[in-house]
Amino acid sequence: MPDIESLLKEKRVFKPAPEFTRQANWNKKTIDEYRKLAARSPERFWAKMAKENVSWFSPWKKVLDWKPPFAKWFVGGKLNVAYNCLDRHLEGEHAWRRNKAAIIWEGEPGDSRVLTYGELHREVCKFANVLKGLGVKKGDRVCLYMPMVPELAIAMLACARIGAPHSIVFGGFSAEALRDRINDAEAKVVITADGGYRKGAGFALKPAVDEALDGCACVTDVVVVERIQNGTPMQSGRDHYWHELMKDASATCAPAKLDAEHPLFILYTSGTTGNPKGILHTTGGYLTHVTTTFKAIFDIKDEDVYWCTADIGWVTGHSYVVYGPLANGATTMMYEGVPTHPGPDRWWSLIAKWGVSIFYTAPTAIRTFIRLGDDLPKAHDLSSLRLLGSVGEPINPEAWMWYHRVIGKKKCPIVDTWWQTETGGIMITPLPGAVATTPGSATLPFPGIDAAIYDEEGNEVPPGAGGLLVVRKPWPGMLRGIWGDPERYKKTYWGTFKNTYLAGDGAHRDKKGYFWIMGRVDDVMNVSGHRIGTMEVESALVSHPNVAEAAVVGRPDDITGTAIVAFVTPTGGTDAGAALNQTLRGHVTKEIGAIARPAEIRFTDALPKTRSGKIMRRLLRDIASDKESTGDTSTLEDFSVLAQLRESEED
Ligand code: WT7
Repeated sequence: MPDIESLLKEKRVFKPAPEFTRQANWNKKTIDEYRKLAARSPERFWAKMAKENVSWFSPWKKVLDWKPPFAKWFVGGKLNVAYNCLDRHLEGEHAWRRNKAAIIWEGEPGDSRVLTYGELHREVCKFANVLKGLGVKKGDRVCLYMPMVPELAIAMLACARIGAPHSIVFGGFSAEALRDRINDAEAKVVITADGGYRKGAGFALKPAVDEALDGCACVTDVVVVERIQNGTPMQSGRDHYWHELMKDASATCAPAKLDAEHPLFILYTSGTTGNPKGILHTTGGYLTHVTTTFKAIFDIKDEDVYWCTADIGWVTGHSYVVYGPLANGATTMMYEGVPTHPGPDRWWSLIAKWGVSIFYTAPTAIRTFIRLGDDLPKAHDLSSLRLLGSVGEPINPEAWMWYHRVIGKKKCPIVDTWWQTETGGIMITPLPGAVATTPGSATLPFPGIDAAIYDEEGNEVPPGAGGLLVVRKPWPGMLRGIWGDPERYKKTYWGTFKNTYLAGDGAHRDKKGYFWIMGRVDDVMNVSGHRIGTMEVESALVSHPNVAEAAVVGRPDDITGTAIVAFVTPTGGTDAGAALNQTLRGHVTKEIGAIARPAEIRFTDALPKTRSGKIMRRLLRDIASDKESTGDTSTLEDFSVLAQLRESEED
């Protein structure tokens, strides 16, 4: 692997500044203590964290019940996530937080809203009562399909307050994708908006819900936030405006005393089949994991303004826009629109405007800004920043150094955080006051996380050697299953190595024990930090009547990390291909969403297959990235296919 070679040469080391270490929530001494405790007993470490960082209505009887691969954490404990994110900041020593900003929200057109903890608490209680009024009971699923507006966070917390698991579907997904997810979770109510703002204009969202619900029998009611006032059609009896339901709602709603293992949310993510998996997270362990990691890794203080640029529709938004920050009583910022509107410096102007001190974003965004030039960030006062984070994909050292130099002015520690939808919270990361960083490495596992790298036989590999990233012990934020599919859960994550979680990423460790994540080793692509399954795009393509066969692979891309390349055999022969190009891109957008639209489609009469009929993806990957294929092609069914594929490159 040439990538490993070049990364192994990375020697730059950045030690934590003494000024930072001195004020850190977790200093060297604390961390040494925690690491020692966690090494002796991860359960005792996590129990300590659960006690210190989370408020419980009743204590647990057992820290961990592990019947591989099914884990229960804090068995018998009772708590409420909304209580932890809101009520406890209005009581006792923290009562002053009532008038502290909980959410600073800025809309793309420049409008803004600041919700204090007191106000957010009131809105959440009211909306919880609205949900109850619609017949939503503990355990019922609620689907949220919304733009980045404060009502999205309010709806999540309202669900958590009454024990109705939410399933958030990213607003960029299509009606078809939404329908599949609503049906799989059997959601009772859908919360949406008439639309949102993007690239300077309003876009409609509600029509996709109407289309999706055409094929859903489970949904009784739809709540619509009025954001762009486009007079979206409302179906009487089923659809209600948010503001109308909220008008008379009571602001008193006791938080439900929920079991530690009560489902908090389902979040769909791509895997290696055509069907996305509903990743299930529960209450006590998840909250312990995200609250603890947020406090330690982002070093949150009451004075901070924290901004994570992720959309709440992804797990990063769940754990580190909403739950982690609010459980810590932090000020969390939300921005509705694109980074480049009205100008390419919108993000930097937002940091200056709100005095953002902690900033968490993705490498793909950093690379986009590098290309736009240093003048944009330099034109804004970024001196409020004190800590930077990166997530979603491996950060290349060049992007890391730019982030460090141009955004962090060489004074902000960078935390490169590795985790997944399935892990719930951060797993491998620097601790900013204690761990020296090296560009490109996520450094060390968080205390209590037993990560390792295995070869195919399940042996730990020596330093420098590549292998499969695994986690050997259960952790509190881990997924509890795949909604409705325990077999797939067992097979996907626990079927390769005994009682060991398989992450699906390739990685290696250096001599210091630092982890270097190399990217997915399965048929999952990481496009702009978003996970997309090759099989999903393939099934979308073959569902078009003019497609006989399709194979999808990722090609390295300077900005998005991976670009989607599709090889398609059209039913009408390759001559018909050119005309199909736009149609098929539109078709994938309709089936899944614009994020899955191929960057390139190549038309071919046949796909390279082994004699047993398996598509040779490795070969296609080489062709897509214009690499001379050096791999073994002796099992290739038809050698002429290869030549034709190379010629099929678009002009
Ligand atoms: C996949 C998980 C978890 C937040 C967003 C993505 C990749 C994530 C890093 C990182 C290298 C990373 C992995 C992982 N990934 N963070 N710091 N360094 N790779 O969540 O959609 O569940 O995707 O993102 O490949 O498996 P996700």
